[in-house]
Amino acid sequence: MANARRNAEAGFGRRRRWGPARDSLWDFVGPPIEDGARVAIVGAGNGDDLPMRRIARSAGSVTLIDLDPLAARRARQRLGRAERAKVEVIGHDVTEGGADAIVLAAAASEAADLPHLAAEPDGEGRPLPGAPYDLVVGDLFYSQLLYPALVDLGVDPDRCAETLIRHAPPLTRAVVARLHASAPRVVHVHDPIAWWDGHEQPVALEEILAANAGQGPEVALTVAARGVGPHESDPRAALADLGLSPTATALWRWPFAPGVDYLSCATLASGTAAPPIT
Ligand SMILES: C[S@@+](CC[C@H](N)C(=O)[O-])C[C@H]1O[C@@H](n2cnc3c(N)ncnc32)[C@H](O)[C@@H]1O
Repeated sequence: MANARRNAEAGFGRRRRWGPARDSLWDFVGPPIEDGARVAIVGAGNGDDLPMRRIARSAGSVTLIDLDPLAARRARQRLGRAERAKVEVIGHDVTEGGADAIVLAAAASEAADLPHLAAEPDGEGRPLPGAPYDLVVGDLFYSQLLYPALVDLGVDPDRCAETLIRHAPPLTRAVVARLHASAPRVVHVHDPIAWWDGHEQPVALEEILAANAGQGPEVALTVAARGVGPHESDPRAALADLGLSPTATALWRWPFAPGVDYLSCATLASGTAAPPIT
């Protein structure tokens, strides 16, 4: 509900404002989409940051996966007839109830036992509905798995922080493993850091983008890591824990709202998670 509410409240002018972010995402995901590829997009939501028309033209099929299928269906409706015919929507919680169990326990001030978290007995994630795909895109949902619901349930800030520190890393790992169990190549798009009035950061977005242009994204991410952000839900940390390495990374500005900027980070990685050491 917390995520669906935010999707429904998306402000006027967003699609136009997010145009440059859609172009940057297309520059990154366009080349790995081979003709006729089966593509899944997790966290498709309103589709405002997604170059959906361009993806649907190149791909053979596109599956939009979101726990808010109404938002994704509205995004599909905006497409022309030919592209729309290639796109289907699946309403699905990629944590399979894990996120709900954590936030409800936090709201009730109970200790949360981690639920099943979609892990197969061999430690790999359970594939997404409709898998296998040729490419899965995880789109800006990682920081939204727990935080919006914790805020909407009125969980006090200390308990909220404690819950995120304890539960967001294993939850993110489980979801990242699921995405990698569903396709040979996965693009993870996440938002390492943001700026708005009253939210002071020790680094400026321009500083990070300058480091990106001059020294590359890996150096720029070390600059971004000095700032305050949802580090505990970072899919790149999950990749490292799962023994997977990025093969390409790109950074761009996500002009979220007037006076609010986010940094977007796209990471391409291949392979499935290594089984846990027992
Ligand atoms: C910030 S939005 C991503 C931006 C979105 N692509 C757009 O353009 O509007 C995050 C999306 O992730 C979805 N989401 C959050 N938690 C999820 C979960 N556990 N399973 C599936 N989707 C989830 C939300 O419903 C939301 O649509």
